[in-house]
Amino acid sequence: MTRNDVNAPFGFAVTYPEAVQLYGVHEHCETLALRNTAPGGTDPYRLKNSDIAYYEINSPMAMYGAVPVIYGHGPKATSGVFLHNAAEQWIEFTNQDGNSQANFMAEAGTLDIFVLLGSTPIDLVRQYTALTGTAHLPQLWTLGFHQSRNSYETQDEVKEVAENFDSNNFQLDAIWLDIDYTDGYRYFTWKPDGFDDPIGLQETIASTNKKLVTIIDPHIKVEPGYSVYDEALANDWFVKNADGSVFEGPCWPGNSGWMDFLKPEARDYYASMYSYDNFNGSTPTIAGIWNDMNEPSVFDSSLEQTLPPDSLHNDVVRHKEVHNIYGFLHTMATHQGLINRDNGERRPFVLTRSHFAGSQRYSAIWTGDNQADWPYLVASYPGCLNANILGIVFCGADVSGFIDSPTEELYQRWFQAGAWLPFYRSHSNVGTSRREPYLMSEDTQNIVREALQTRYKHIPQWYTLFYEHTRFGDPIIRPLFYHYPEDTNVYSTDNQILVGRDILVRPVMESGVDSVDVYFPGGEDEVWVSISGSDIQTGSGLVSVPVTIQSVPYYYRRGGVVVRKDTVRSNTVEMEDDPYSVYWTVDQNNQAHGTVYLDDGVSFKYRDSSDYNYYSIDINGDDVTVSPIDGDGNYEFVMSQLVRRDVVTLPKNGKPGTFKETIFTRDANGTLLKDIKVHLKEKTVFKLK
Ligand code: GLC
Repeated sequence: MTRNDVNAPFGFAVTYPEAVQLYGVHEHCETLALRNTAPGGTDPYRLKNSDIAYYEINSPMAMYGAVPVIYGHGPKATSGVFLHNAAEQWIEFTNQDGNSQANFMAEAGTLDIFVLLGSTPIDLVRQYTALTGTAHLPQLWTLGFHQSRNSYETQDEVKEVAENFDSNNFQLDAIWLDIDYTDGYRYFTWKPDGFDDPIGLQETIASTNKKLVTIIDPHIKVEPGYSVYDEALANDWFVKNADGSVFEGPCWPGNSGWMDFLKPEARDYYASMYSYDNFNGSTPTIAGIWNDMNEPSVFDSSLEQTLPPDSLHNDVVRHKEVHNIYGFLHTMATHQGLINRDNGERRPFVLTRSHFAGSQRYSAIWTGDNQADWPYLVASYPGCLNANILGIVFCGADVSGFIDSPTEELYQRWFQAGAWLPFYRSHSNVGTSRREPYLMSEDTQNIVREALQTRYKHIPQWYTLFYEHTRFGDPIIRPLFYHYPEDTNVYSTDNQILVGRDILVRPVMESGVDSVDVYFPGGEDEVWVSISGSDIQTGSGLVSVPVTIQSVPYYYRRGGVVVRKDTVRSNTVEMEDDPYSVYWTVDQNNQAHGTVYLDDGVSFKYRDSSDYNYYSIDINGDDVTVSPIDGDGNYEFVMSQLVRRDVVTLPKNGKPGTFKETIFTRDANGTLLKDIKVHLKEKTVFKLK
């Protein structure tokens, strides 16, 4: 194939046999279920990674990421197609009972398609992640709460925010530095006026077991004397114009050049910039990096805010062929940089705005510049659900809305809903209200505290789910059809999620309501028990559930086991040595089953030397069995309490009747649970009464 061939547009159509509903094609601010396009429907869905200010709700307009994968699903079968192509694409859909279709049109590049045969949603997602990879485990701290703002202006302000979280009893694992920590948006530098003591700042942050995350964007200020510019220019590492000159355009620092991440040497150089020597003033407390503006964003509307289509990468590849992988390559360099910096001893944490199929291998994502308005809270759920079924599991949305200022009620609801997405960060724009939780009313503070505590209690469950993602490729949060593929009623459900298999969450994302509709899947044999136990439902469909401002409906599935840490401290580090609590309700066979995964929370030893322990927990009547599944680690599973939540189903109608919770801190012999040593290599069995 010649270079001219790959610059020609092409199209093709795919029919999904047996499918009644199509899904996929991330990223759009859209419902999870893809809508029909013209004639009579919406515009075609566009994939062209774009820095879009004020993105529209329920629109097929292009956003920051591009994952060209379409799944077709119906009660009898599920299948998928992945078009491995990084050029702009437009896709049309027809959802039609048993005969759904997608029309792909790509602007350039090659026809490189993968067909995923399914035949269930679980098979399909596993096939797709086997192809594009899974995320490695995140460090444990990344599952805690993150506080960000565009921008904290000085090191003193950052210290003050961190202190206020602690003194007001709000959990916090990381505080984020947006662009204003830099010296004039020259990345890998510090602003002399305000951030003149970065090491001192990091020492203070580290002294309370928190981390910093700093932003590093891909545009480089054009300025002879700025070493990154000089090096990139001298070594020919900038994206070029069609005539071979270096492309320059405006971004945060003013006139900028763009690193050509398609060149391996440019990536290596960029990676080397993260070393402690090159990123002068950085220490291990900068435990993560935020890669933004990497669509890439160029402040020039005549170029549709990005690099010109005929600009050149690696001297010969036209930008339009590779546009959608610019951000992916950026994160690849950053990820490598953190691996090198830490001698491979710590799992990198990178957050990216732009992403592509397979981005999960290098980064987490968030849904970009949302607005402090209810529809954007609603949109955060389908956005992250979609990313999850397309492999990019570590996803969140700016809690409380980035643009504009939230009402108190929206703020409360956003903290509650955000606690159930994998990535949990509050972020807000310059000029909007300051909204660190300790600045809010007493009532709101209590609601935020409750949301944060709910999150922290469930971190063991999140961590096990991340492990199971690395191992099997499963999503962390799942749409209902993932586990209930035959229930056509749930094909459009995207305002509630399953966190793993056993937790059902339906956040309140509407204003002024005293009840919400919750769909309980699974039929008569499935039973869902709310966390307080006051609401017990069989899986028989849509039910109106009363809510208060204090509560978000979440339920544990009967027959599942949920592992938690119930003593919540300031951050994940301080909870590290705490024992676990185990919750379950036995099913109709008097059994419940779950898993728990333990490791050092930081390193790659779990991957490189099996330094972990993965246990199954099986309850059978009064018998509790903890069995090692595998792992050669030395991580004992220490329980402090077992919480048995009994539901008595009424014989006359099979409906749940009474609920009783029993908390055990000792086994039937009177031994304190926390003194029961779980065998690392063989089963541990004990009785509860
Ligand atoms: C972009 C990001 C936003 C960030 C801002 C300044 O708009 O999406 O999160 O705060 O740039 O860096």
